[in-house]
Amino acid sequence: MRVLSVASEVYPLVKTGGLADVAGALPLALGKLGIEMKTLIPGYPAVMSALRDVAIRMTFDDLLGVSANVLEAKVAGLELLVLDCPALFDRAGGPYLDTQGHDHFDNWRRFAALSKAGAEIALGNMPGWKPDLVHVHDWQTGLLPAYLRFADTPAIPSVMTIHNIAFQGNFNADIFPQLGLPPHAFDMEGVEYYNQVGYLKAGIQTAWAVTTVSPSYAEEILTPEFGMGLEGLLNRRVSDLHGIVNGIDVDVWNPQSDKDVANHYSVGDLKARRKNKRAVEAQFGLVNDDAPLFCVISRLTWQKGVDLIAQSADDLVAMGGKLAVLGSGDAELVNALQAAASRHPGRIGIKVSYDEPLSHLMQAGCDAILIPSRFEPCGLTQLYGLRYGCVPVVSRTGGLNDTVIDANPAALAAKSATGVTFGPVTLDNFKRALRRAVRLHGDTKTWVQMQKQGMKSDVSWEKSAGLYAELYSSLLPKGSH
Ligand code: ADP
Ligand code: GLC
Repeated sequence: MRVLSVASEVYPLVKTGGLADVAGALPLALGKLGIEMKTLIPGYPAVMSALRDVAIRMTFDDLLGVSANVLEAKVAGLELLVLDCPALFDRAGGPYLDTQGHDHFDNWRRFAALSKAGAEIALGNMPGWKPDLVHVHDWQTGLLPAYLRFADTPAIPSVMTIHNIAFQGNFNADIFPQLGLPPHAFDMEGVEYYNQVGYLKAGIQTAWAVTTVSPSYAEEILTPEFGMGLEGLLNRRVSDLHGIVNGIDVDVWNPQSDKDVANHYSVGDLKARRKNKRAVEAQFGLVNDDAPLFCVISRLTWQKGVDLIAQSADDLVAMGGKLAVLGSGDAELVNALQAAASRHPGRIGIKVSYDEPLSHLMQAGCDAILIPSRFEPCGLTQLYGLRYGCVPVVSRTGGLNDTVIDANPAALAAKSATGVTFGPVTLDNFKRALRRAVRLHGDTKTWVQMQKQGMKSDVSWEKSAGLYAELYSSLLPKGSH
């Protein structure tokens, strides 16, 4: 089976969050099941400079008003198709934001062009390779299934994965005539969304199947509280909606061989973690002692409950804990955390940056990772935490709910606990969870048992890749694969 995956970021070339990890790891896991997946991504500068041995596979003279090539190259085991389009992608800033932190002014065109190029490939217009199915991710690629739905030629099946329904890509209706869709596509049954063009809405409306990145989130987005306006449409499509939990790349994230971790260890012997803890403390200017070291590795946003972390920082220190925060995001939250760090020198440290290697070291050295998210489609940092013996302290929502087993008395007795969970998300409940984590950490035998149980949980892609493969097969004509 041949599948075209289309995404706006992919690890290890360009990453702003978990989407990149998923887009980078899923093709490798599917490859082991005999599925040939090529991944179409935009030719940002960081992507273009990583390409070697490039072949031009397709040329557009007029792709929504600009010229572009589709290049093919292999990078880090991934079969990449790259939309080389300097007018849209060769510029400073990140994938979505300019150097001032504002959305690129033409994001609607940049991602419509990505979707349009993907649709042309899906329709068989790239010489030499035609996919059997197309799998798109998040609002940036939401128009692709719509291009297929409104194409003149019969289209192949499409799967749309929602990684985060908070980001919907809604644009003013006056862009519509420039999208190259027929007039009747601007309709409730098409791309129209409250009199705007809704990219994510378009994908959910027109893809053959819709998935989200955990079973709990698939349930949650059917409600007004989590559906963010799309719950009505999702309820209409509920028979085509599937929740498939993310895995992680267990080769990249392996405490026995991680290149960013100086002191390797395994589930049989966790002693080396202590040296990594000393290294984290040194990096964050924290005292070296055996007090529990909590970490945060995150976008610093309301979604992630970072305000609760700032508000409970004094209590955490009073309980005897230490805290290392790596992240960037909302200025107000950054300020609140920095203020907490200056109130507690040696006990709380913060680095406002994006630092992939340091994130590995923190998982390998810290005692616990805090993720009090208000909503969490899947969450990957708790999975990295499980794999590394960095015990997750998480809210009971979305993928966090599906992947962490709370240390309640029954689970502790059965030795199945892998973390501390709490809910609903309030400051008091979070503080109670912190207190519980500190107490559990004081009982070394129980704590180590929890760490090891987490390290033994299956966080690989194996099972979930199989579920995607089954879903793909179910959409193809019977007997074709
Ligand atoms: P989301 O995609 O909502 O941000 P996830 O938990 O799915 O949340 O994925 C976040 C990814 O980004 C993880 O791989 C995490 O380790 C990484 N990450 C987040 N912030 C940082 C940071 N400041 N430095 C390094 N890695 C980070
Ligand atoms: C999104 C979600 C996160 C999820 C990631 C990868 O960014 O916020 O929960 O893990 O996508 O699917």
